[in-house]
Amino acid sequence: MKIIKCKDYEEMSKRAASYIRAIVTLKPNAVLGLATGSTPISTYKQLIECYNVGKLDFSEIISINLDEYVGLDDKNDQSYRYFMNENLFNHINIKKENTYVPNGIAKDLEAECKRYDDIIEKFGPIDLQLLGLGQNGHIGFNEPDNHFSFETHVVSLTENTIMANKRFFNSIDEVPKKAITMGIYPIINAKNVLMVASGKVKADAVEKIVKGNITPECPASILKYHKNFVLIVDEEAASKI
Ligand code: GLP
Repeated sequence: MKIIKCKDYEEMSKRAASYIRAIVTLKPNAVLGLATGSTPISTYKQLIECYNVGKLDFSEIISINLDEYVGLDDKNDQSYRYFMNENLFNHINIKKENTYVPNGIAKDLEAECKRYDDIIEKFGPIDLQLLGLGQNGHIGFNEPDNHFSFETHVVSLTENTIMANKRFFNSIDEVPKKAITMGIYPIINAKNVLMVASGKVKADAVEKIVKGNITPECPASILKYHKNFVLIVDEEAASKI
C-alpha cells in the first residue's frame, strides 16, 4: 500500500487526477472503475479541464461504475447515473455506450446483478479502480458484514450510510434503503486501485485500513492485500495514521 498525504482536498484531487491521467495516456482503451460520492468530484473536474485543453482523450475508454441506488432512474438527480453524466461523462468525449452503471430500476434485480457481472467479466480486469470511502469503511456499497460478498449484489444500506448520504436528499425518507453494488472481487482484481479520502469524518476508516486487520467489518481493509493500492488522503483524513 502506498499512502500519499496531501495538505487538503484540492491537492488530494490533483494527485488523484494525475494518476488517472497517466493511466488514460498510457492506455487509451483502459477500463476505468469509477466512483460517486462527493470526494471524487474535484478529481473529475480536473480531468475535464485536461480534456478541454486537449491533453486527454476518452474516446476509447470504457467505464464501469461501482453502484447505483435501487429505485432511482437516470433522470433522478440523486441517481449515480445522473451524477456520472453531470460530473464527468457529459463534459468529455467518452462514448455513452461505453459507460456502465447498474440499472437501479431493473424489474429483476437479481438478473441485473448477473448482467453487471457479465459486463465486468467481458471488459475486465479493470485497469484502474477509483474508490471513495464510506465513514464505516464501505467501498462502493459493500457494507460492513460478517463476510465479504464477491459478486454484484443487492444490499440493504446501513443506518450509518443512510445518515451519511441524507445530506444529498430533501429528507431522510427520500434516501433509498437499498442499492446494487459491484462485489469485492472485481475491486481486488483490478490492476490498480486508487482511493481518495478527505475530511475528519474519514479518519477512523482510514485508520482501520492502515492499522487494522483485514475484516469484512471494514470492507476497505481488504485493499491491504492489493499490490498496487494507492491511498490519497488529506491531512484531516490522515489525522489518525
Ligand atoms: C457512497 C458511495 C461510495 C462513496 C461513499 C462516500 O456511499 N456508494 O462509493 O465512496 O458514498 O461518499 P463521500 O465521498 O460523499 O463521502
